[in-house]
Amino acid sequence: MGKLEGKVALITGAGNGIGYSQALLFAQEGASVIATDVDTAAGEKLIREIQKKNGKTMFFKHDVAREEDWSEIIAKVTKAHGKLDILVNNAGILIQKDLENTSAKEWEKVFEVNAKGPFLGCKYVAGAMRKAGGGSIINILSIGGPSAAAYEASKGAVQLLTKAAAIDYAKDNIRVNSIYPGLIETSMTEEIFKDRVQRNYFVSKILLGRAGLPIEVAKAVLFLASDDASYMTGSELVVDGGYITE
Ligand SMILES: NC(=O)c1ccc[n+]([C@@H]2O[C@H](COP(=O)([O-])OP(=O)(O)OC[C@H]3O[C@@H](n4cnc5c(N)ncnc54)[C@H](O)[C@@H]3O)[C@@H](O)[C@H]2O)c1
Repeated sequence: MGKLEGKVALITGAGNGIGYSQALLFAQEGASVIATDVDTAAGEKLIREIQKKNGKTMFFKHDVAREEDWSEIIAKVTKAHGKLDILVNNAGILIQKDLENTSAKEWEKVFEVNAKGPFLGCKYVAGAMRKAGGGSIINILSIGGPSAAAYEASKGAVQLLTKAAAIDYAKDNIRVNSIYPGLIETSMTEEIFKDRVQRNYFVSKILLGRAGLPIEVAKAVLFLASDDASYMTGSELVVDGGYITE
C-alpha cells in the first residue's frame, strides 16, 4: 500500500521541476493528485504521464497569486473529493538580481507569487482540510543564495508564515512544515548550469559534490505529507547535499 493511499493532494506549480516530480511520486504512492500551474501545456503533459501509470489526477490552470483562482479550485476539489488532505505550496519564481538592481515592480511580482501565493494557499485549504479531520501543508522555501534579494526576502516571509500557520492550525490537526532545497537542477536554475564557472563555484560549496535532483526534494516532501511525519509541525527540513555557507 502506498504512503498516500486515499489522500487528496494539491500541488501548485506542478508542471515542471520539483513540483512535477512530487506529482509523479504522490500519484505512485496512491494519492489523488490535484496538479495546478499557470503553464497549461506542462500540466497536461504531467496528467498524461500520471494516467499512463494508472494514477489518479486532475489538472487546473491556476495562478497562485489570484485569490479567485484559489476559491474556484478548492470548491471544485471539495465537490469532486469531499475533502483535501495535503497542500504543497511549491510554485515559485526567481529574479536573479541583487538588491540595488531590483525594481519595486520586480519585488512586488516575486512577492505576489512566492509569498502571497502560499498565504492564499494556507488560507483557502483550511476548511477542506477540517472536513478531512486534519491535513498537511508543506511550503517550499530555499536555503538562500547570492544576488536574489526579492526572492530571498519572499522565502523569508513564508518561513515565518509557516510558523504562524502551524500555531493557528494545530487545533485542527493540520500540520504545517517547510522544506529548504539547495541547488536543484530545474528550469529555474538552468542559467547557473549553462555557465560552467558559476556551476563549478556552487557545486564546490556542496559537501556531496553535486547538485540535487527534483526527486530528491520530492521524497522529503512526501515524508512531511505522509503520516510518517505525524509528530512534526512548524519544522524546517533542509535538503541541500550539505551546502557550506561562509
Ligand atoms: N531549483 C532550485 O534550485 C530550488 C532551490 C530552492 C528552492 N526552490 C523552490 O522550489 C520550488 C519549485 O522550483 P523549481 O526549481 O521546480 O522551478 P521551475 O521553474 O522548474 O517550476 C516552477 C513552476 O511554477 C510555475 N509557476 C510560476 N509562477 C506561477 C504562478 N503564479 N502560479 C502557479 N504556478 C506558477 C511554473 O509554471 C513552473 O511550472 C519553487 O518554490 C522554488 O523557489 C528551487
